[in-house]
Amino acid sequence: MCGIIGIASDKSVSSNIINSLKRLEYRGYDSAGLATLNNNLIIEKKCSGRVEQLEKIIFESPVKGNIGIGHVRWATHGIPNTVNAHPHSSEIVSVVHNGIIENSDELKKKLEKEGVKFKSQTDTEVITFLITKALESSDPLDSVFLTLEKLKGSFALGILFKNHNNIIIGARRGSPLAVGYAKNENYLGSDSYALKSMTNKISYLDDGDVCVLNKDHIEFYNQKKTKINKKVLVLSDDARSISKGDYKNFMSKEIFEQPITIKNCMNEYIDKIRNQINLYDFPIQPDKIDKITLIACGTAYHSCLVAKYWFEEVTDLDVEVDIASEFRYRNIKFKKNNLYIFVSQSGETADTAAALELCKQNNAKTCSIVNVVESSIARLSDWVLPIHAGPEIGVASTKAFLGQLLVLYILILKISKIRGDVSEKEIIKKIDDLKKIPDALNQVLKIEDKIQVIAKDFVNAKGTMYLGRGLSYPIALEGALKLKELSYLHAEGYPAGEMKHGPLALIEDGLPVVVLAPNDKYFEKTISNMQEVIARGGKILLITDKHDEVISENLRFKLEIPFINYLLTPFIITVPLQLLAYHVASLKKCDIDKPRNLAKSVTVE
Ligand code: F6R
Repeated sequence: MCGIIGIASDKSVSSNIINSLKRLEYRGYDSAGLATLNNNLIIEKKCSGRVEQLEKIIFESPVKGNIGIGHVRWATHGIPNTVNAHPHSSEIVSVVHNGIIENSDELKKKLEKEGVKFKSQTDTEVITFLITKALESSDPLDSVFLTLEKLKGSFALGILFKNHNNIIIGARRGSPLAVGYAKNENYLGSDSYALKSMTNKISYLDDGDVCVLNKDHIEFYNQKKTKINKKVLVLSDDARSISKGDYKNFMSKEIFEQPITIKNCMNEYIDKIRNQINLYDFPIQPDKIDKITLIACGTAYHSCLVAKYWFEEVTDLDVEVDIASEFRYRNIKFKKNNLYIFVSQSGETADTAAALELCKQNNAKTCSIVNVVESSIARLSDWVLPIHAGPEIGVASTKAFLGQLLVLYILILKISKIRGDVSEKEIIKKIDDLKKIPDALNQVLKIEDKIQVIAKDFVNAKGTMYLGRGLSYPIALEGALKLKELSYLHAEGYPAGEMKHGPLALIEDGLPVVVLAPNDKYFEKTISNMQEVIARGGKILLITDKHDEVISENLRFKLEIPFINYLLTPFIITVPLQLLAYHVASLKKCDIDKPRNLAKSVTVE
């Protein structure tokens, strides 16, 4: 993970570096730092903790310089402290890095034998000293190319050179890197979001590319050191959606934005007058596909699990779901008629991108469902379906999850229609039902105050379990993931029918257990599993869209949610779980938008 920024300008850069680092904090927030060049000296300021802390340091002791680099860190090598924070500088070179250098130990040993004294425990410092050594006999660009040849792993780099005080060199392998253009100022950044407050003109580096930028000009080279040109993209202005508005934090804003997110996404893909799905330019003939593999990580993986149940309900297709970090190392037998679908909010997740790369190397058909349309995953896939959720800033994914579900559902309907698995009449009915989701979400958001009360039961709990069957099983996994990442409380999601095969032993008097029992074909079975938990002392929070009183006995709490049709329950039943995780974390005074140890964009393996 980590976020990097570089600015070459005709005016002082430190405050713009700080502002960009604030926008990059979603990529890492355990330490921060910057370096500028002033009077031919490298000035470095770093600290553990947030960018706010760095800002205070700079306020107390201002840093001059019209050229500089900055970094927010998500620790990989070495604990998050000031010494390990980036930039890592020698007398003549300063480096910021996002990624992992896999052969850093080996390189470090060699450099130590040559007399280099390392200050930090990071892998990045080897890059600093490799470039420093190379500069003894080459110019900055050659020294970077010579260094890159020695590195194994992934990186996006920003490099300053003491004796070449007007340039920053950037390099990319694996980790994303963009440049931005403005008058008398040019930029380097981990993503366009970091640069958006300064420019909307962006180019992306591809793997192996290197760039040299000064305040007036940017040059690009490919890995063979041949000069290349880059397309300049003009980004749309969605700055408004990047503010918290009246909400306490981004996560609550993003939860409450979900009815509108779903509406916006639906407008992109559904012709509401003709009740038709607008998915054009399929580069793949869906009737020639006989298997689908869905690949993702974390929350996005849960959306894929939901999609598997949907695919099986409405098509005859064979469907598999894989976690990207596993898929990329498995011995996959790629088949001509298999479609590989990648789901990712950021479009930059390293494992998902590597799994996609593997598919491309094997000439497999690929499609991606992403929120960030300019992302690496979107650019690499044959076909892209954006989820149009707008920027998601809270580290815990909420509105992007519902957006992923919606695009997957629409895609499934389209594929099933082309294949003739579902009749036109049924599709129209299903589209009509989809249109009811925003209202149902608005209704479910109104039960927030009840959830706030329920959350108190979880604050001091030893742990908790989330149980569901069928479509509610992946939602149980998602509910548990939200609770653990936000409130640091141990939570497990389980298929309710699997409890008796071991996990029932965890149930003890007073343990809070969340049971998802919508009115579907599993309802009675789930209720029986719930009774087994009650019999062992479990304190149940039941969430259901079956509104009758009989099942209310022996429950600690029951939340009733609206019903549209059983296939759409995942959209509705997810929201109380997001709110529960949110309120437990608030009561525990956890940092909602930036949970400990995590980052929004996971660009390392
Ligand atoms: C959890 C969460 C993560 C992400 C995962 C994949 O709330 O946000 O589990 O879902 O890191 O990220 P993307 O979707 O960007 O590929």
